[in-house]
Amino acid sequence: MLAGWYDVLTRNTRTLPADAAGVAQAAALLRGGGLVAFGTETVYGLGADATNARAVAAIFAAKGRPRFNPLISHFPDADRAFAHVMADARARKLADVFWPGPLTMVLKRQAHSKIDLLVSAGLDTLAVRVPAHEQARALLRAAGVPVAAPSANRSGAVSPTTAAHVLADLDGRIDTVMDCGPACVGLESTVLDLSGSAAVLLRPGGTELSAIEALIGPVRRHKASEGEALKSPGLLASHYAPVLPLRINNESAADEALLAFGPVPDTAGLTWNLSESGDLTEAATRLFAGLRWLDQEGRARGLRGIVAMKVPYGGLGDAINDRLERARK
Ligand code: TXA
Ligand code: MG
Repeated sequence: MLAGWYDVLTRNTRTLPADAAGVAQAAALLRGGGLVAFGTETVYGLGADATNARAVAAIFAAKGRPRFNPLISHFPDADRAFAHVMADARARKLADVFWPGPLTMVLKRQAHSKIDLLVSAGLDTLAVRVPAHEQARALLRAAGVPVAAPSANRSGAVSPTTAAHVLADLDGRIDTVMDCGPACVGLESTVLDLSGSAAVLLRPGGTELSAIEALIGPVRRHKASEGEALKSPGLLASHYAPVLPLRINNESAADEALLAFGPVPDTAGLTWNLSESGDLTEAATRLFAGLRWLDQEGRARGLRGIVAMKVPYGGLGDAINDRLERARK
């Protein structure tokens, strides 16, 4: 444990550009066991060599993440991802259509996989994903190792969609952040458990469930209340939380900040509109930046909380409402 704290306290965080030289430097850092944050199409990830136990342990230390919460391993293509897991026909079909892209599949681990057991927190499954972001894939190709990467925020806080968000949470605790620009989806990947015969949705995200079901048939919605073992610890109720208390309602008071959706009059003390035209795709890209901004500005102005309007269900609306529910305290 002491070594972990020592590691956390002595890192001098540098920002690298996402050009060829930046990718090469970031890849070398990853191969050397460093902590490298990088942009993906969903949110920024905090990457480390998934086969290096010490590097993986440093991810948990830097984030303050509970060790029972497993990490996603990232690959530049499906072939490399499927070398570590038992991919059945469903997984291959989904990979053909949705990879690279915001879909994570949980599958049984191959016995020979060198991915460290800490990555899967003792489960016999692995979560694998091929991100769509070009520079992220260039980094994964250059690194040549599977890259374990949770979202690059302090555990429990709002996910980062820019390099500045990453630095706000992790400056001094990681080796570098590769600035890949603002994340274009803005919400984490959809996490789908395919380790059993029934497909189970563990986390709604950037890939729409209806599109997945059109391809592989009905998917069960995971409910923590079902009393089964907690399959995806990321489903823990408190997550993505700003410091100010957040409630969900369509009306806000003058001493509250408002996370709005659609054409609403700007009567709150402080407003961030996810999408004035009511576009869910735009709303997803603006969600985490808005939560961070309202939290910071709201506290600076002495407001007592944030009110978030619910967005319509369906498609990305399910994932946005899921994050809002979790942001409540
Ligand atoms: O879009 C994303 O998925 C981003 C980018 C960086 O790729 N990553 C991300 O990681 O959101 P993280 O750690 O914040 O969320 C990963 C989720 C957690 O809910 C975790 O519990 C779940 O995936 N997970 C990982 N491995 C799992 C496994 N073997 N079985 C079940 N759930 C797993
Ligand atoms: Mg996260």
